[in-house]
Amino acid sequence: MTLRDPDLVGALVAVFTQSAHTVILTGSGTSAESGVPTFRDAQNGLWSRYRAEDLATPEAFARDPQVVWEWYEWRRGIVASVQPNPGHYAIVELQRRLRRVTLITQNVDGLHQRAGSADVIEFHGNLMRSKCSAEHCVVEVDRSEQASPPRCPNCGELVRPDVVWFGEAIPDVELEAALAAAADCDLMMVVGTSAQVQPAASLAERARARGAVLVEINPEATPLTPRADFVLSGPSGRILPELVEALRGPGGAC
Ligand code: OAD
Repeated sequence: MTLRDPDLVGALVAVFTQSAHTVILTGSGTSAESGVPTFRDAQNGLWSRYRAEDLATPEAFARDPQVVWEWYEWRRGIVASVQPNPGHYAIVELQRRLRRVTLITQNVDGLHQRAGSADVIEFHGNLMRSKCSAEHCVVEVDRSEQASPPRCPNCGELVRPDVVWFGEAIPDVELEAALAAAADCDLMMVVGTSAQVQPAASLAERARARGAVLVEINPEATPLTPRADFVLSGPSGRILPELVEALRGPGGAC
């Protein structure tokens, strides 16, 4: 889909320019065009016999910390080798142009920040950070160390990635900030998420229930699609820049 229908573009421009508080909720589809596989995409190479859902759990780490750590090392390598895509940059532009934007991401790749987004609510943590598995404090990992996973320099326990695994709670600060934004916004745009994982998916329901306009960008239908006011079906790396362009054009107030 491209934003060519003038009625659709006009309605979208009106919604975005009138919004006093826009929440943008992103998922792994937002990074797909950078070359980061989405969470549920088949894994390739060495990791093709594992499912992400079976590695991203405290139980998997307890059972085999080395395999889980090495899977994250592999993912860190991918993230370090890719760049933000036009969708990430369009979100930075929206943050500059709209009245107030809260950006919440389920992604752990840090690509929003690398594109220039500030104040990102990292709902599921960040792959590039590590923390002590016992004390949960963020630690610097000594990459010259051969241990896999390394040990915490303070207490000697195993170090783990600073991400939220299945079955773990969202950190309080991020959860409260995201819930407050969802309850306060008048527009929520949900980008590149299958909307299957709670509580992230419920943020859109919460905003909708409070009367916010819901915009979804995704090439595929999701459980949110029937409830969205605007469904922009296509890759976010193309649709988001088109949206920014529409906001710049005649009739766009920014
Ligand atoms: P998923 O892998 O479940 O969904 C990715 C979504 O991106 C799908 O709906 C795709 O249709 C869509 N998509 C693919 N390519 C796209 C593109 N170019 N542009 C826009 N959308 C595209 O990933 P998430 O919904 O992010 O949590 O998964 C949510 C959470 O599930 C993850 O943060 C992770 C996992 O559990 C934890 O690890 C706690």
